[in-house]
Amino acid sequence: MESSNYAILLLTSVLLVTISGKASSSSSAPSPQGDFLTCLASISNESKPQVYVPNQSPSYLSILQSSINNLRFTTPSTPKPQFIITPNRESQVQAVVICCKRYGLKVTVRSGGHDFEGLSSTSDVPFVLVDLINLRNIDVNIKDNSAWVQGGATLGEVYYRVAEKSPVHGYPAGACPTVGVGGHISGGGFGAMVRKYGMSADHVLDARLINANGEILNRETMGEDLFWAIRGGGVASFGVLLAWKIRLVPVPPIMTVAMVRRTLEQGATDLVYKWQSVASFGVPEELFIALHVGVVNTTSSTKGELRRTVEATFQFFFLGRGDELVQLMKNKFPELGFKKKDCIEKSWAESAVIFAGFPVGTPVDILLNRSSLPKTTFKAKSDFVTKPIPKAGLEGIWKRFLKEERPELVIGTWGGKVNEIPEDAIAFPHRAGNMYLIDYVSNWDAKEGKEASDKHIKWMRELYDYMTPYVPKSPRTAFLNYRDLDLGQNNINGTSTYPQAKSWGQMYFKDNFKKLLKVKSKVDPQNFFISEQSIPIILSS
Ligand SMILES: Cc1cc2nc3c(=O)[nH]c(=O)nc-3n(C[C@H](O)[C@H](O)[C@H](O)COP(=O)(O)OP(=O)(O)OC[C@H]3O[C@@H](n4cnc5c(N)ncnc54)[C@H](O)[C@@H]3O)c2cc1C
Ligand SMILES: *[C@@H]1O[C@H](CO)[C@@H](O)[C@H](O)[C@H]1NC(C)=O
Ligand SMILES: *[C@@H]1O[C@H](CO)[C@@H](O)[C@H](O)[C@H]1NC(C)=O
Ligand SMILES: *[C@@H]1O[C@H](CO)[C@@H](O)[C@H](O)[C@H]1NC(C)=O
Ligand SMILES: *[C@@H]1O[C@H](CO)[C@@H](O)[C@H](O)[C@H]1NC(C)=O
Repeated sequence: MESSNYAILLLTSVLLVTISGKASSSSSAPSPQGDFLTCLASISNESKPQVYVPNQSPSYLSILQSSINNLRFTTPSTPKPQFIITPNRESQVQAVVICCKRYGLKVTVRSGGHDFEGLSSTSDVPFVLVDLINLRNIDVNIKDNSAWVQGGATLGEVYYRVAEKSPVHGYPAGACPTVGVGGHISGGGFGAMVRKYGMSADHVLDARLINANGEILNRETMGEDLFWAIRGGGVASFGVLLAWKIRLVPVPPIMTVAMVRRTLEQGATDLVYKWQSVASFGVPEELFIALHVGVVNTTSSTKGELRRTVEATFQFFFLGRGDELVQLMKNKFPELGFKKKDCIEKSWAESAVIFAGFPVGTPVDILLNRSSLPKTTFKAKSDFVTKPIPKAGLEGIWKRFLKEERPELVIGTWGGKVNEIPEDAIAFPHRAGNMYLIDYVSNWDAKEGKEASDKHIKWMRELYDYMTPYVPKSPRTAFLNYRDLDLGQNNINGTSTYPQAKSWGQMYFKDNFKKLLKVKSKVDPQNFFISEQSIPIILSS
């Protein structure tokens, strides 16, 4: 029989309340919320964390919405937290965990707020939001090539602080500087150096984690299995990540970035087709050629009228100089017509700024700005691709793109180091054989309302169905950091979640899902760290 983990937790908390006499001393109905605040005040003695309460704290809504990246989760009907807490000490986070557990409130932790499905900011059950915005210290130690990074820091902050100390050190992680290290690294994390160095999670040396008992663990005290799980398995299933110790990697003092745009009329289909055989297995791992596909308006040269077309942008990130890149493209990809004047030679941090989409010459301190990039309302999905998609397959995508308002493909290439690491080295499993990772996105304007939103989501699901013949089956794979609740979700109100979780668990984690289930069941048997797509526990029978 499947029992209700969350219900058990609620029941336990009611018992606790009754035993402690708090509920029975009052004639009115017990208020877990009020008791929660009392608990918090009594435990976090030395200094209480800042608590924001709906309808009481004037800045509740602005704090809540400050880092929600997908505007689909900023509507009035989006379920909101009972409290938002912004701790500035580790002990305050411990207090929140202990009190949430005691009063049956779900705890949700937010780092950068970029979860595609808003899981760090909303939930179907009553919850307390812990926003780590004030825990974002970064301590770089160039002597031993490492840094301690607190859970609330962003990638941009990491890049900036590393570059501030050394022009020849970097960290392999995502292109978007406002993404948080909490979600990003624990979901694997990839960026423009994935071919040279592998995933962000491949470069984690230690971690500080609060478990379901409110204890602070490090690598040694958590043990290798849990340490394995939080590197790619998503830390939200296992605890609150307070800090990562990351390993820094060498980067050249000057490197090269470039963007080359081609529309359908300029031969984009043939170029994208050819790119597939070049970018993953045909060039050195120092070179990453990401591909962005979108829809643009061009002016037809003959009639001067506007027409919509598909445009492919090849985005180069090369750990070397421009001349070498030009030579490489001349040999491997002459069709693109890549030229020296396309090359922008900069430091690693300046290159990161340009690769994030800022204009050349933007000062690197933009990396410290947590709201530097515009936000949209979107639905996304993902696929890993292991064999080239034929031209007819690509043309079918373009046809669909021209019927949608603001569709995008954001593609990162695999090959090199990321493919060489064994699938079970850490929980992130997508290695040998993968050519590239597609992030399918449809953007729209929140003001368009529910009907439009349904229409765009439907379009996205149809595109995903269309792609079925071109991607791996059994399992079709997906990237945890590109979270997609269509793949299935836990019923966090009630029943045991293993059967539902099996499908998406295998898509995100392949065979590593089995070990994740074991680790979860061992370290959090009460399933306190539950969410819509957390690793479920297996009930021993
Ligand atoms: C514009 C954009 C660009 C992106 N680019 C890339 C990219 O280049 N490469 C890539 O790999 N991914 C990329 N992503 C995906 C991104 O890595 C994931 O969305 C990641 O989970 C975001 O981390 P976060 O801390 O910002 O998110 P959050 O929304 O804060 O957290 C994501 C999940 O992790 C949990 N969590 C966060 N912090 C903690 C913590 N300290 N302890 C416990 N649980 C925690 C949250 O509860 C939530 O479930 C991108 C996303 C966006 C929106
Ligand atoms: C909390 O404060 C009281 C009074 O100041 C003190 O006696 C007690 O030891 C403190 N408790 C903790 C856990 O620090
Ligand atoms: C293209 O032009 C149409 C019509 O003017 C406009 O609605 C749309 O927003 C434009 N699209 C882009 C990508 O600029
Ligand atoms: C961050 O960037 C945004 C958008 O470019 C800008 O409006 C804002 O003023 C910047 N904030 C800071 C603190 O510089
Ligand atoms: C969980 O319960 C809430 C309210 O009790 C309800 O609104 C929501 O739809 C439920 N979610 C699921 C997944 O059953």
